[in-house]
Amino acid sequence: MKLTQEEQDMLDGKHGKAVQKSMEILTTLGDIFDAECMIDVYGVQIAGVSYANLGEAGLEWLSEMAKDGRVRVLTTLNPAGMDRENWQALGIDEEFAKNQNRAIDAFARMGIITTCSCTPYLIGNVPHFGQHIAWAESSAVCYSNSVIGARTNREGGPSALAAALTGRTPKYGYHLDENRHGQVLINVHASVKGTDEFGVLGKIIGDKLVELEKKIPYITGIQLATVEELKSFCASVATYGGTALFHMEGITPEYNNYPKPSDIVFDINQDDLEKTRAELIDSESEIDFISIGCPHASIHEIAKIAHLLEGKKVKKEFWITTARPTKRIADEVGYSKLIEDAGAKFAADTCCVVAPIKGRFKGIMVDSAKACYYGRAKNKFKVKIGSIEACIEEATK
Ligand code: F3S
Repeated sequence: MKLTQEEQDMLDGKHGKAVQKSMEILTTLGDIFDAECMIDVYGVQIAGVSYANLGEAGLEWLSEMAKDGRVRVLTTLNPAGMDRENWQALGIDEEFAKNQNRAIDAFARMGIITTCSCTPYLIGNVPHFGQHIAWAESSAVCYSNSVIGARTNREGGPSALAAALTGRTPKYGYHLDENRHGQVLINVHASVKGTDEFGVLGKIIGDKLVELEKKIPYITGIQLATVEELKSFCASVATYGGTALFHMEGITPEYNNYPKPSDIVFDINQDDLEKTRAELIDSESEIDFISIGCPHASIHEIAKIAHLLEGKKVKKEFWITTARPTKRIADEVGYSKLIEDAGAKFAADTCCVVAPIKGRFKGIMVDSAKACYYGRAKNKFKVKIGSIEACIEEATK
């Protein structure tokens, strides 16, 4: 791969050890994927932040990189394993909290902004159309490529950190025009509304893409989609289909830039939505935990929850998972008080998937198809999907 003099200097150790190790990771990746050169990145999002995922080995590696590594571009973190201010109230044990804070401190020493959220695009780490970035969270990767029209591959934790410390990433995959074409035409003949339904749609499309061994759907038939619906869809289609990019006719910015695929066509109707929704509801599930905010809740969703909970009491454990800056806005405008007066809890910086809560609950109700997947696979919960309104009804009945 062709390197500039500065990149070669990085690789030769002239910018310190952490940068040298980072450049080694990036050039290896570039060689594997036949990248011609490196490109500058505007921003980075790092995943694999929970101590539950990092473990001692991961923490040691981070501490080593933090000795002389400093980020060159705007860099934020994915959710951690706990709410950094309110971990005790969420039942997190002290040992875990201590280790999680050691990891966050290592990230902070490198100059990373320690807002732990999977929706960096809602809290200031937001690229514009066409900008190259290096993000690692699958739902955010899908959102940035598809909804914003920025360009990123799905990075792993180490390659994202390497991009942050060098400001570079190898130019391959979704950074190139020729890899951004729709591959399968998906015609939706159904009305899709709400975060839960967009999540169900994401599962149908994701499952189909896996079956077809394709990655990029071109979707027609969606008239309107809010930011919240699109973030839910992105999380779901990335989880079930490994999708990092889709085009949605009339909605996403690049749908007109490439030819509409015509050789593989798949239709989705109302019955498909109902059938797939049923797959995300375990029979005989006893719900003792409700969580909204996968991906992290926007201020708009928090406003809705506050309004629905006003004057009510929840009778089950109820988390709203969000970014801390979003929680601060909710505090200022009074939404947090309405929510906490009802007995629901904020779980900022974390989520119901990355927090170490396996075995604590029997069944979880969510408005997110992604949370259903990991609720089953990782935490062994029974799951039930429903709208935000239905989640509140379940919590308060
Ligand atoms: Fe975000 Fe956790 Fe869901 S990281 S996308 S809230 S599983």
